[in-house]
Amino acid sequence: MPTQKNSNGSSQPIAKFERLAKRPHLNIVGISAGYHDSACCLLQDGVLVAAVQEERFTRVKNDKSFPRKAFRYCLEQAGLTMADIDCIAYYEDPYMKLGRQIWMGMIPDLPSERREGILDRIVKSQPEQIIRRLFGFNGPIEFVDHHLSHAASSFFYSGFDEAAILTVDGVGDWPTTSYGWGKGSHIERFEQVDFPDSLGFFYSAITGYLGFEVNEGEYKVMGLAPYGEPVYADQIRNLIEVSSDGQYRLNMKYFAFLSEDSMFTQELSTLLGEPPREPESELRQFHMDVARSVQAVLEEVLLAKVRYLHSKVPSENLCMAGGVALNVVANGRCLREGPFKRLFVQPAAGDAGGSVGAAAMAHARITGKPPYRKKLDHVYLGPENTSEDAYNILSTSSAKFQDFRGKEEELIRYTVDRLIEGKVVGWSHGRMEFGPRSLGARSILADPRRPEMRDRINALVKMRESFRPFAPAVLESKAHEHFDLDHASPFMLETCQVISPIDLSAITHIDGSARVQTVTHETNPRFARLLEEFNRRTGCPILLNTSFNMRGEPIVCTTVDAIMCFVRSQIDVLVVEDFAMERAGIPALWDLQATEKPTGGEAVGHLVYTLL
Ligand SMILES: [Fe+2]
Repeated sequence: MPTQKNSNGSSQPIAKFERLAKRPHLNIVGISAGYHDSACCLLQDGVLVAAVQEERFTRVKNDKSFPRKAFRYCLEQAGLTMADIDCIAYYEDPYMKLGRQIWMGMIPDLPSERREGILDRIVKSQPEQIIRRLFGFNGPIEFVDHHLSHAASSFFYSGFDEAAILTVDGVGDWPTTSYGWGKGSHIERFEQVDFPDSLGFFYSAITGYLGFEVNEGEYKVMGLAPYGEPVYADQIRNLIEVSSDGQYRLNMKYFAFLSEDSMFTQELSTLLGEPPREPESELRQFHMDVARSVQAVLEEVLLAKVRYLHSKVPSENLCMAGGVALNVVANGRCLREGPFKRLFVQPAAGDAGGSVGAAAMAHARITGKPPYRKKLDHVYLGPENTSEDAYNILSTSSAKFQDFRGKEEELIRYTVDRLIEGKVVGWSHGRMEFGPRSLGARSILADPRRPEMRDRINALVKMRESFRPFAPAVLESKAHEHFDLDHASPFMLETCQVISPIDLSAITHIDGSARVQTVTHETNPRFARLLEEFNRRTGCPILLNTSFNMRGEPIVCTTVDAIMCFVRSQIDVLVVEDFAMERAGIPALWDLQATEKPTGGEAVGHLVYTLL
C-alpha cells in the first residue's frame, strides 16, 4: 500500500499517491527558491541524478529567483520532457511561510479596496501558481516544509539506517531549529524552535556588525575567529538565552531584523563598546575577538543542543543540515566533544539542498520507501562541458592553446609542471559541483607548499581578505599521513589539524587546522590522477583547492565562464577539459571585452560574441 508522510514524516496510507506509486519509473523534481540560493534537482527512481543552483546559470550570486534554467538543465541531463515528470516537490510550506510573513507585517494592512488586488498577487506569487504558470506543469505538486526538507536532505543521503537529526538555519517557513530522528523512510520531529529565535540570525547579526555581508560573510567570521580571543563571549551571551531543553530565545533588544533592514540594533554596539565595522575597512584585533567570541558562543549552544538531542534520541549517528550546519568548525566540535559517534552533514546544507530533501521526502511519501539509501559520495551533479565545445570555442578564436585530446597523461604532466613552477591553475573538468564548495571540477589549484600562494591567489583572483584560509585537496589514501583525520571527508565539511611532515603553509590556518577534501578515483578520476602525479613528482599528495570564481561571483559553470574568469583575473594557466592555455595565449580582444564588461550575463554574452 502506498504511504505518505505527514508533516512530521510519519507513515500513513493515502490514496492520492496510489496511481503514482504503481508507475514503473518515478521522476521527481525538487525545487528550492525565493529566499537564498535557489536550486533544482531530479530524482529518478529515488536516485539523485542532477542538482544545480540557479546562480550557476544566471551568474547572479546566491540567485533567489525561481530556478527556471536549473529546471531545464535537470530535464535535459536526464533526456526528459515535462510529460515525464511525475511530481514536483517544493521545499517549503508556502502557507506556513505566509503566516510568518503576515505576523512580521510583511503583508501590509490595507484598505479593503486594495486588499483584494494585493491578496490576488500574493496567491499568484505562491509557488504552486509559479510552477503551473512557468513550467506548464499539471501534475501533483508536493510541499515539504522547510526544516523537513533540510532533515530529509541529510538523513536520506547519510547512509545511516537510523539517526538523530538536527536542522538549524536562519528561517524557512516558521521554525529555525528542529530536533528529530529518522529510520528507513520515516522522519519524525519532536521539537522545534520558532522564528524569531534563530541561531542563524544570531550569527548573521554579528556577521553584519563585523562589516560582512549577511548570508554570505558567515564563512569570513568563522575564518577570522582563530585570530582572536573569546574576550567578548560574556557580552555576546547576553544576546541569547539558552534553556536546558531544545529551546533558546534571542534577546530582541539587540536584533533589528523584525522591523528594519539591519540585522542588529544600536544596543549591540553599546554592548560591545564599538560602532559596527564599515565594510572593507581595516580589521582590528577587536573584530577578531568579536568573531572568536560569537563562534565560541555558537559552538557552546550547538553542543548543548546536540547533547539534548542525544538525550532524546540515543543514536550513535547524527545528521545535520540547514545553513548553520555549514559552520564546519562548530560541526567538528560537536563531533569531537558531543555524544554522537558519527556525523553526516548534507554538503549543500543551505537552502539549495532543500530541493534535494523535498524531492527525497516526496519519493518517500509516494512509495513508502526511502530514496536510494547509499551514502552520498559525491556532488558532481551539475552541468558538464564537452571537449568538443571547448575546442570549438578555442579553435575559432585567435587564442593560443594546447590540445591534449586523447592524451590525458600529457595534460596531467603539463599541469603538474606548471603547479611545480608555482603557477596558479584554473581547472575545469566534468560535471560541476552542487553546493557551495569547489571540489576539483571547477577549482583554482596551486602548490600548497609555497607560503606565498595564499597572498598570491588573493591578489590574482579572489581579491578577498588575506586572513581567510584556503583548503587542501588530498588523495584519500594519503590523508592520514598529513591530517589528523581517520575517515573520508569528500565535501570539505570538517576541519582537522595538519600533522604533515611537509610545510603546508598555504593551506594551514593560523590555529594549525585545515578544511580538508579527500579525493578518490571513484568519484573524480582525473583530479585523483592529477594529485597522484603531483605526489609522484614532489612527495606531496595535496593541492591547494579553492573555488574557481572572482570575488562576489558564482563559481564558473561553462567553458565560457571559465575563460571569462581566466581572462579577467591574473590566473596563470587555464585547463579546461582537454585544453590548456597560458596568459600569453589570450587574444587581445578577449582581454578588452572582459575588462570593459566586468560582470554578469551581458559580459558573458559579449565574450561569446567575440569568441564566435
Ligand atoms: Fe533553510
